[in-house]
Amino acid sequence: MTSHEYTVPADGLAAAEGSVPEPGAVTIVVPTFNESANIRHLLRQITASVPARLPCEVVFVDDSTDDTPEVIRDAARDCAFPVAVLHREEPAGGLGGAVVEGLRAATSDWIVVMDGDCQHPPSLVTELVATGERRGAGLVVTSRYIAGGSRAGLAGGYRVAVSRGATWLTKALFPRRLRGISDPMSGFFAIRRSAVTADVLRPLGYKILLELAVRNRPRQVAEVPFVFQDRYAGESKSSAREGFRFLRHLAGLRTASPVARMIGFGLIGASGFVPNLVGLWALIALGVHYVPAEILANQLGVAWNFLLIEHLLFRDRRGHRRWWDRLGRFALLANADLVLRIPLIALFVDRLGMGVLAATALALVTTFLLRFAGTEALVYLPRRKPAR
Ligand code: GDD
Ligand code: MN
Repeated sequence: MTSHEYTVPADGLAAAEGSVPEPGAVTIVVPTFNESANIRHLLRQITASVPARLPCEVVFVDDSTDDTPEVIRDAARDCAFPVAVLHREEPAGGLGGAVVEGLRAATSDWIVVMDGDCQHPPSLVTELVATGERRGAGLVVTSRYIAGGSRAGLAGGYRVAVSRGATWLTKALFPRRLRGISDPMSGFFAIRRSAVTADVLRPLGYKILLELAVRNRPRQVAEVPFVFQDRYAGESKSSAREGFRFLRHLAGLRTASPVARMIGFGLIGASGFVPNLVGLWALIALGVHYVPAEILANQLGVAWNFLLIEHLLFRDRRGHRRWWDRLGRFALLANADLVLRIPLIALFVDRLGMGVLAATALALVTTFLLRFAGTEALVYLPRRKPAR
């Protein structure tokens, strides 16, 4: 856990507000990063539309470097419902990490996650919860892409195109887990507390709904159309850096199972032929004899593969060894693969009487599987948890 300036005691919000004995029926979780100019307007909007219909509490999870926490505490005095600020000194996981902290702190049966810049209309909060109750859903998502929804507030053709492309890619990668979710990029949704298993979540940046839908798999999903509003004040915190984080997040989610990881490993391995051949061509053009050139060029392919698997496949499992230790082991495995292949082919041909092509194919598959298993076990095996 990161170090927090906790305004919320570990036993929940109800205890934080002595005057409010019961937790609300909905906990509204709002991640904030330098949103001081939006807080009052947001709390006014919530006041106008939520508490009369549904008891609520609001948890801000704040990573700001400005005075947002003070503004929240000050504005909270005018609210008839509990408002808490959980300020994180260390913003692990960014926006998604903040939301998960909020999910952990929530005490109500329903949790609604929404942005702090008023792009998500609080008037929909009660409808989200009501829809979930009526349909027996574990997750209710607001969508810009169903009848009645629109992305009015998404500024500029460039952002619209990026958002559309990201939505398409994400749906293509997770056709089953995202069935029934037309807007997996949405940051505005309601989830039953019982549908959240915070311990398996590995949030990375903006797309926390995607993380929840893929790893927590709520049993029933419903959608409500919504119009993405304009920002009330300030500017968006998303950036090109967030875009790359999103791609890493997608890769991590997609390769969470061993089979998917093996396919990724194979694809990365195949892509390694490109630097290998380019290196070979360059070395021979420089006049290097082809045998040392082959060996050197192969190391280029190994380095390429290592970089890609480090960043795309085993990102979460790099902490167990130092990078040079991992690189050394990985390079050893890759070269052992090459050294092993010829004797293995000879064995298949001479001893088992196989044809040369079949023997070569079998040797390739065998060494591939060995290299994958070796990489999992010898390079990235997580340390055993100490027994309690
Ligand atoms: N705690 C915390 N930490 N909050 C953050 C961080 C962070 O690192 N980064 C952003 N936020 C907060 C912002 O303060 C805001 O309340 C909310 O998260 C959304 O951030 P924006 O910067 O306003 O995002 P956006 O408008 O570009 O993107 C929104 O729309 C997308 C759909 O187009 C978000 O709702 C996305 O989740 C959504 O996918
Ligand atoms: Mn926004």
